[in-house]
Amino acid sequence: MATTYPWKFFRAGGFNQVVIGSGADLFNLDQLDQKLWVALACPIKGVEFDQTTLALIDTDKDGRIRVPEFIAAAKWAVELMKNPDDLLKGSPTLKPSAINDTTPEGKLIANFARQVLGKTDACEVTFEEAATAAQTFAAKPFNGDGIIPADSASDDATKAVIADIINCLGSDTDVSGKPGVSQARVDQFFAAAAAYFSALKPRAVIKVVEADTVPKTFITFNHLAALPSGEKEPIGKRIVEVPEVLEQFANRDTHAQFIAYVPPGSVAKGEALVKTGGGKTVQCTICHGPNLKGIGAMPGIVGRSPSYMVRQLYDLKSGTRAGPFSSMMKPVVADLSVDDMAHIAAYLATQAP
Ligand code: HEC
Repeated sequence: MATTYPWKFFRAGGFNQVVIGSGADLFNLDQLDQKLWVALACPIKGVEFDQTTLALIDTDKDGRIRVPEFIAAAKWAVELMKNPDDLLKGSPTLKPSAINDTTPEGKLIANFARQVLGKTDACEVTFEEAATAAQTFAAKPFNGDGIIPADSASDDATKAVIADIINCLGSDTDVSGKPGVSQARVDQFFAAAAAYFSALKPRAVIKVVEADTVPKTFITFNHLAALPSGEKEPIGKRIVEVPEVLEQFANRDTHAQFIAYVPPGSVAKGEALVKTGGGKTVQCTICHGPNLKGIGAMPGIVGRSPSYMVRQLYDLKSGTRAGPFSSMMKPVVADLSVDDMAHIAAYLATQAP
């Protein structure tokens, strides 16, 4: 092959040998006549050179480095250096600032040294640090492998969900060897949970009672319950919702029933608002379906806990509840008072879920 690159030679052991003395020499190796190469292939094992590096150069993984692989590796290394001559200094360390970060790959590598290895530009990266970089990176929570171990989550709720997913569906192994979850597994989990819950038949669990006086209550298990003494007090404008049999509720019996005491007249007032809008709102059936049991993304609103319903209407109006679909409820609740909300909730709770 005709060469235009001005090689320098020295004579040793009766042979003319090429001097590889600069980055430019390395870069132009493809112009060196292969008759002048001492060897055209070299095994990646049993050579006095870092074996991991040799294995990386052996891109076709046949256990031998051949000329084209070596040329490609040399060009790659030269292009990553601001001053390619540095490659021939034999220094065991390198500064991030020595890397040519004008190419996307160079930028990636320099940033990796700065961010993952925590080096400033003036700080040298040692050979050992570079060699163990993969482990250093794998130990980071977001290492780009797409697998999230439970301990990468910043809050306990997320940690618990990841643990639940692993318990139910098994785990994927992240690059550091820890069990974690992939996007596919997360999607599978939530699809299965949604299918399970949407297949449950809603059950009527609330009896609505209009009353002037209601049992005095106390708080237990995050819920109101009637005082065992049977004492009564005026209802005022409240909805007072209590388990019918406290023990059943406390034992998480899914058949536990509730009594919702509501002020006299509130069911009729609520019915008028729900069915006609009463000049303050719109007919709820437009979105929640003809029997208000929900359609598609629209939740069912009948036969559900009236205190929960008031809280949702209140939060939708105040903006505390602000999910992707909440804005559809904004105009519905804009002109409703808290009393209107209680009336609506009272009526909705009288209907079968
Ligand atoms: C324009 C469509 C639309 C109309 C009309 C509408 N809603 Fe809604 N409603 C929604 C959507 C959408 C949601 C879900 C909001 C969210 O995801 O935050 C919702 C949620 C609710 C919720 C919360 C339910 C839950 O499971 O937490 C209640 C309560 C509710 N609506 C009551 C009503 C009442 C009462 C009316 C009639 C006065 C009404 N809505 C009219 C669209 C509508």
